[in-house]
Amino acid sequence: MRDATPQTIYLSDYQPFGYLVDEVALTFDLDPHQTRVKSRIAFRPNPDAADSRFFLHGEDLKLISAQIDGRSVTPEVTETGLTCDVPDGPFIWEAEVEIDPKRNTALEGLYMSNGMYCTQCEAEGFRKITYYPDRPDVMSVFTVTINGPHPVLLSNGNPVAQGPNHAEWHDPWPKPAYLFALVAGDLVAHSDRFTTMSGREVDLNLYVRPGDEGKCAFGMEALKASMKWDEEVYGREYDLDLFNIVAVDDFNMGAMENKGLNIFNSAAVLASPETSTDDNFERIEAIIAHEYFHNWTGNRITCRDWFQLCLKEGLTVYRDSQFTSDMRSAPVKRISDVIDLRSRQFAEDQGPLAHPVRPESFQEINNFYTATVYEKGAEVIGMLKTLVGDEAYAKALDLYFERHDGDAATIEDWLKVFEDTTGRDLTQFKRWYSQAGTPHLAVTEAWDAGKGVLTLSFTQHTPPSVATPDPAPQVLPIAVGLVGPDGSEVAPTRILEMTEAQQSFVFDGLDERPVASILRGFSAPVVLEHDQSKQERLHLLAHDSDAFNRWEAGRTLARQSLLDTILLSSAPDAAWLDALDLLLTDETLEPAFRALMLGLPSHAELASTLHTKGHTPDPAAIHEAIETTRDAMAHRFADVLGQLYARHMVDAPYRPDAEQSGKRALTNAALSLLTRVQGPDRAEGQYAQADNMTQQLSALGTLVRTGHGDKALSDFETRWQNDRLVMDKWFGLQVSQASPDDATEVAQRLTEHADFNWKNPNRFRAVFGSLAMHHAGFHHVSGKGYTLLAEWLMRLDPVNPQTTARMCSAFQTWRRYDAARQAKIEVELDRMLAQPGLSRDTREMLSRIREA
Ligand code: TRP
Ligand code: ZN
Repeated sequence: MRDATPQTIYLSDYQPFGYLVDEVALTFDLDPHQTRVKSRIAFRPNPDAADSRFFLHGEDLKLISAQIDGRSVTPEVTETGLTCDVPDGPFIWEAEVEIDPKRNTALEGLYMSNGMYCTQCEAEGFRKITYYPDRPDVMSVFTVTINGPHPVLLSNGNPVAQGPNHAEWHDPWPKPAYLFALVAGDLVAHSDRFTTMSGREVDLNLYVRPGDEGKCAFGMEALKASMKWDEEVYGREYDLDLFNIVAVDDFNMGAMENKGLNIFNSAAVLASPETSTDDNFERIEAIIAHEYFHNWTGNRITCRDWFQLCLKEGLTVYRDSQFTSDMRSAPVKRISDVIDLRSRQFAEDQGPLAHPVRPESFQEINNFYTATVYEKGAEVIGMLKTLVGDEAYAKALDLYFERHDGDAATIEDWLKVFEDTTGRDLTQFKRWYSQAGTPHLAVTEAWDAGKGVLTLSFTQHTPPSVATPDPAPQVLPIAVGLVGPDGSEVAPTRILEMTEAQQSFVFDGLDERPVASILRGFSAPVVLEHDQSKQERLHLLAHDSDAFNRWEAGRTLARQSLLDTILLSSAPDAAWLDALDLLLTDETLEPAFRALMLGLPSHAELASTLHTKGHTPDPAAIHEAIETTRDAMAHRFADVLGQLYARHMVDAPYRPDAEQSGKRALTNAALSLLTRVQGPDRAEGQYAQADNMTQQLSALGTLVRTGHGDKALSDFETRWQNDRLVMDKWFGLQVSQASPDDATEVAQRLTEHADFNWKNPNRFRAVFGSLAMHHAGFHHVSGKGYTLLAEWLMRLDPVNPQTTARMCSAFQTWRRYDAARQAKIEVELDRMLAQPGLSRDTREMLSRIREA
C-alpha cells in the first residue's frame, strides 16, 4: 500500500461503526487473475453510534457493480474504500468486485501459493477481498460459496453443501472479517477425531500438499493435546463440528487463527524426525496450541480495535507457554522464554521502536505485531496471576469468558474482571499497558546480625522514551527466597508487592545471614541490579531451589566474566568455570537444564548490557570475547564433555519429547565445544550417522563454523534439495555459522543460488534474517552488512511490505554503536527512506528508527 501522507490512527479517537451487520453472504468464482467476489451484506443502523457515515474499506479492488436493496448505486470510490448514500433503516448491500490473487505478492487478502488459493486477513487484509467495514468490532455470521476447479474448497465453520467444483460453508459464530478464511487447491488431508468434554465429536483435518502427508502426525497430536489441555485447565470446549488446519508455503508469519480454519506457514506445522529439529517440534507444538487457544481468547472474545491487540495475543502467548510448561519442563521453558524476552523485547523497549503493550497510535497496524505486544503482554498476565494468586486468576478467567463471550472487548474489560473477582484496585497495575520501557530494579541489602533482620531496599526506575517520556512507578511482584549458608531454604518464597519508586521489605527471625534469591522465576520483566558478591552468586548457582534463579546466577557470572574480557582483557573467570564443572556432572539435573547452563549471553545481549552500562559496544570485541570464553570452556571441560557426550547420546528410536530432546541439546552443546579442541572427527561422525535432523544439523553447523563444512554442505544440499523447509536450514546455517568477515559475502553468494526464491518469506528470512542476527557479521566495521541488507529490503518492499517492514528492525539498535557505524547506517536509512514508492509499512518503521 503506497501512501504519500501516512495517516496516524489514535486509540483516543475510537468511535463505533454506524451500522451493524446482521449477515454476510460471499460467493467466490476463483480465477488466478480474475477472481470475482460477490457480497450480500445485511446492514442496519447501529443505535449506539453517533456517526452514521457509510464507509466501507476496500483496497486494490475493481468494482464491477453495487446495489442497495436491489437497485444499482454508484458509490464514491477512493484508494482506501467507498462511501454511498444509504437508507435510514435496515438495507441489503450487494457488490461484485474483481481481484487478482496471482499478482498478490504481499500475501495479504486472497493470494496464490504453489497453485493453491489462500487468504490472510488479519489485521486489515479483508478489505483486499471485498468492500466491508474491516474492523474487529463489526461482527457477523458468514455464509461462503466457492466455485472453482479444485478438489478441496474450504472456508470457516461447517460445510453445508459440497459438489464438484463447488462448496458452501456456514459459520454460525459471529466474527470480525479478520477471521475470515478461504482455501482452494489440490490438497490431501491427514484426518483424526476428537471427543470434547461434553461428548461432541469433532472432525480434525490437517491439509497439506501431496508429498507432505508424512509430516502431519506430530501436528495432529499437538492439536489434540491442545484441545484436551484447554478443557482441563481453562474449561474451554471447542464449538464447531470441524477443525481444519492448512499448511501454506508462502506466509508472512507463523500461523493464523481463522475460525475453524487455521492457516499455517508450513514451517510452523510440518514435521518429521528426518527433516525437523527438536526445536522445530517444540515450536510447532506451541504454535498449534497458540492458534487453537485463540478460538476462545481472540475469536469468541475478540478485540474492540487493534490497539487492544495484546488482549488476545498477550493472553494467548501466556496460555501457550503454560501449555508448553505442562507438556515439557517448566523451568526449561521459563528460562528459554526469558532468554527470548531479553534478546527481542528488551532491545525493542530500549530503542526507538519502544511502545506500550497497548500502543496509543499507529500508522500501519502490521508493524505492531511485536515482541512487546506478544511477549511483554504475556509477562503482564503472568504478573497479574502472581499478584492475585492461582485461584483468583481461575475465577477471573471464568468471569471473563462468561461476561464477554461474543464481545469485542478492551483491556479495561479484562482488568475489570480481575477487579470484580478480587476487589483489588488495578489502576496502578494498568500502567503496564500504557507505559513503554523496561523498568530497572535496583536492590541493596542491610543485615542486622544482632536482631537477625535482613532488609531489602528496592528502587525502581524506567528510562524515559519517546513513547513514555515521564514514566511513573509500576506495580512489581518480586518473588524472593532466602538461601541459608548450608544451601537450604530459610523460608518459603515470598511475593513482595512493590508499588512505590523506593520501598523496603523486612525479613526477620533469621539466625544467620542468608543469601537473597531475588526475582525468582523472573517474576517481573525488569532489569535487576543487585550488587551480589561472586561468592553469593556461586552459592545460588550451587543451591538455589528456584531453577530459574539458579540458572540466572550462572548467567550473571558468565556475563560478568565476558564483560571483564571485553573491557579489561581478563581471562575467563575460573571460579565460575569451576562451579559450572560441578553442575555439568550433577546427574540429578535435567540434561536440558545443563545444556542451558553451557550457553552464554548472545552477542546482542552483551551489546545491550554494555550500552546500558554506558559503554559503546564493539561487535568485533564481543565476538572475540565469546570465542575466547568458548575456547576456555572447551579446554577446561574437555574430559567432562566427552563423558557427557557418551553418556547422554540417545540411541533409542527418535522421539521429539522433552526428555530425548534435552539429551540431544546437551550432547550437541558438548559436540560444539569438543570440536574446538579435538578437531572435526566427532562432528563428521555424528553428521554421517545421524538418523534425525537435530543431530545432523547440529553437526553440520559445528563443521561449518570450524571451517570443515564444505563436503557436508554439498552432501546436505544433494540430499535435501527437494525439501523446501530443510533447504531453508541449509541457506540459513551458512550465514549464521560464517565468520564475521565472511557473513555478508556468504549471504550475497547465496542470493545467486538457483533456489534463492526471494519472494518466499521463509527463504528470504533464512538468508537475511540470519545475516541480521549475526551480530558481528551484520555490524562488520566495513558497513557491508548494512548495505547488503538495505539493498535487498528495497528489492522486497514493493513485493511484500509486511515482511520488509518487520525486517527493518535489524537497524533498531543503531544508536548504540560508534559514530562510524552510525554514520554508515544513517546513509542506508536515508537511502531507503528516499526510495520512490516506499510502502507505508516500511516507511513507518524506517522513520521511527531514523528519528532516534
Ligand atoms: N494472529 C496471528 C497469531 O498471533 C498473527 C498474525 C497477525 C498473522 N497478522 C498476521 C499471521 C499476518 C500471519 C500473517 O497467531
Ligand atoms: Zn496469536
